[in-house]
Amino acid sequence: EASGPLSGLLAGKHVLITAGGTREPLDPVRYLGNKSSGKQGVALAEAALAAGADVTLVHAPLEVPAPAGARLQPIETALELRSATLAAAASADVVIMAAAVADFRPANISTGKIKKRDDVADPVITLVRNPDILAEIVAHRAAQNQQQLIVGFAAETGDDEADARTYAQAKLRRKGCDLLVVNEVGPGETGSERVFGRDSNQVEIIALDGAGPVLAGGSKREVADAVVRVIAGRLGAP
Ligand code: CTP
Ligand code: CA
Repeated sequence: EASGPLSGLLAGKHVLITAGGTREPLDPVRYLGNKSSGKQGVALAEAALAAGADVTLVHAPLEVPAPAGARLQPIETALELRSATLAAAASADVVIMAAAVADFRPANISTGKIKKRDDVADPVITLVRNPDILAEIVAHRAAQNQQQLIVGFAAETGDDEADARTYAQAKLRRKGCDLLVVNEVGPGETGSERVFGRDSNQVEIIALDGAGPVLAGGSKREVADAVVRVIAGRLGAP
């Protein structure tokens, strides 16, 4: 793929990026979380800034510093991420959903700290589904007849029924976003070990309109640069 400076590729564009893993509270001191470090989302924000974009970063707690120059909107839960993201999406030319959004949240949040008790049974956590924010953004764009490029992320593994690429294609169609950045997770490997918290990444960028997949690998910043180039190409940049 083409390399060279990103400078000016996204000048004048408002790019909304979500990053990090959401936290779903159980009680005042505990939450359900995931292993996302936020590194890929932060790298995307840095790449978009380098390309001259106006960047909003809606982020769950990050293991790396948030980039200077982005408009930061810290959140913790999926529901908070949803409201911040939907609000910022109204003026965004590009939305990149790099956050690891919890699929479920505890049905009830205990107002006091959950305690061990010998006289009652151990607690059972009931979970409820979180909204699919990416799908909501896609639906919103259609309802508003808005010009917006929407990019999702996915880590897929293959199994006995289909390979990872088949699952990624199905997810792309189900979500209805324009581009899906798919982490390549080979058979027998656990995606989490290969991706989460690591400094490098290997992805395939697939498109809903069937445009040829773009392969990118290297540091998370190199992957981010490749994603920015594909986005700029779609927006008609030189
Ligand atoms: N996503 C989202 N809202 C959710 C879950 C996921 O916006 N409640 C977004 C993620 O940010 C990512 C994309 O959807 O850009 C794909 O996430 P993924 O977890 O792979 O998809 P799911 O639909 O949750 O499918 P799965 O059951 O495989 O986790
Ligand atoms: Ca999920």
